[in-house]
Amino acid sequence: MLPIYEPGLDKVVKACRGKNLFFSTEVDQGIRDADIIFVAVNTPTKKVGMGAGRAADLTYWELAARRIASVAETPKVVVEKSTVPINTAEAISAVLHGAGKTRFDVLSNPEFLAEGTAMTDLDNPDRVLIGGNMNESGKAAVAKLADVYAHWVPRERILTTNVWSSELSKLVANSFLAQRVSSINAVSAICEASGADVDEVARAVGMDSRIGSKFLKASVGFGGSCFQKDILNLVYLCQSMGLADVAEYFHSVVMMNDRQKERFVSRMIHGLFNTVTGKRIALLGFAFKKDTGDTRESASIEICRRLIEERASVCIYDPKVEADQIWMDLTAATKLDKTEVQKYVTLCDSAYEAASGAHALAIATEWDEFKTLDYGKIQEDMVKPSFVFDGRNVLDHDALRELGYIVYAIGKPLDPKLNTSINC
Ligand code: UDX
Repeated sequence: MLPIYEPGLDKVVKACRGKNLFFSTEVDQGIRDADIIFVAVNTPTKKVGMGAGRAADLTYWELAARRIASVAETPKVVVEKSTVPINTAEAISAVLHGAGKTRFDVLSNPEFLAEGTAMTDLDNPDRVLIGGNMNESGKAAVAKLADVYAHWVPRERILTTNVWSSELSKLVANSFLAQRVSSINAVSAICEASGADVDEVARAVGMDSRIGSKFLKASVGFGGSCFQKDILNLVYLCQSMGLADVAEYFHSVVMMNDRQKERFVSRMIHGLFNTVTGKRIALLGFAFKKDTGDTRESASIEICRRLIEERASVCIYDPKVEADQIWMDLTAATKLDKTEVQKYVTLCDSAYEAASGAHALAIATEWDEFKTLDYGKIQEDMVKPSFVFDGRNVLDHDALRELGYIVYAIGKPLDPKLNTSINC
């Protein structure tokens, strides 16, 4: 059993384990035997000290580099797989050469795969990016790594650049993707105020081949381990280079995302007759997107935190997220201890259980199984009038209204039965 849920990963591990894939804690032996070492350690946002809340914490990276330096006896190619601020390769190279006794070539090789589709992204990447030094040994190291990828990736999709371009490209790619989500989420607010439909607007806009149709799905806000972290990293970089206006520009992407989560909660509170205190709310989905059990920066955490603040009773169901993870996320977000959180939050084994006795049902993750629930049956056990807040626009809203639900959906024309006296 693998410690994370990722569709298709178990199949690959089963097929390769013991053949050309080995797991070991013999770190030093691994370093000695390797020609190429991929460093894929965590680089979370710093919590304390200089740059706290924005800069990447490179402690694990530096520790890994020092370990490599102290053990390696023959030349190594060291590959930055973790997302890092620009200039990290240079800094790491200084650590390796300062503490080590052999030659090291540090390459940047950012990872672009997305969770939930990681295996297909790996098999068929849009591009592989390798950044290296432009000297002879740097070029040879880049060629060596490119040869590894060339086993399954067409050569024209393997890009080689200088090391800074490669490091920066990863931050920029994630910032652009997140910016598209924040843009369409900003448009969702305009749609609700004007009567336009965000999916129709996204379709019309996305058919322009210069814009493209992907990443224009309005939502309750983006989450995941990368978007916010990488934007904040870019913001910090801009600030430290004296580019305050550029920093502010990118920072607005995160601010819009925070606003979108708050807007969703406000719609719930106003919709439920201006109070959710003591009301049971079924929260369907806790992962930051479907097909993963990962909850990092998930919008559900903030929605829950706000509902707890309002003293609602929240019943959570997610098909893949572990209970311990939810408690950890909610205690960290609310700064309450677990028993205190449990006064407001219950974890359920199914959507039906979560919705039983609830005033409202909120969709926070677009899991496929939520589309095919028996909403007629669900409504029988709900308090009337029953509300649905679709934070992912995945349900059939007309059908729900025919069943008698009052429905709010992100960026859709507002339900006349919903209290919308306050613009959110
Ligand atoms: C992202 C990048 O896509 C990937 O290239 C990089 O390597 C890591 O970061 P990931 O975080 O796994 O991948 O998921 P992604 O599919 O990008 O979604 C991020 C968040 O944006 C999710 O919360 C998702 O629900 C949300 N999203 C995405 C939207 O709200 N609307 C969209 O149209 C697309």
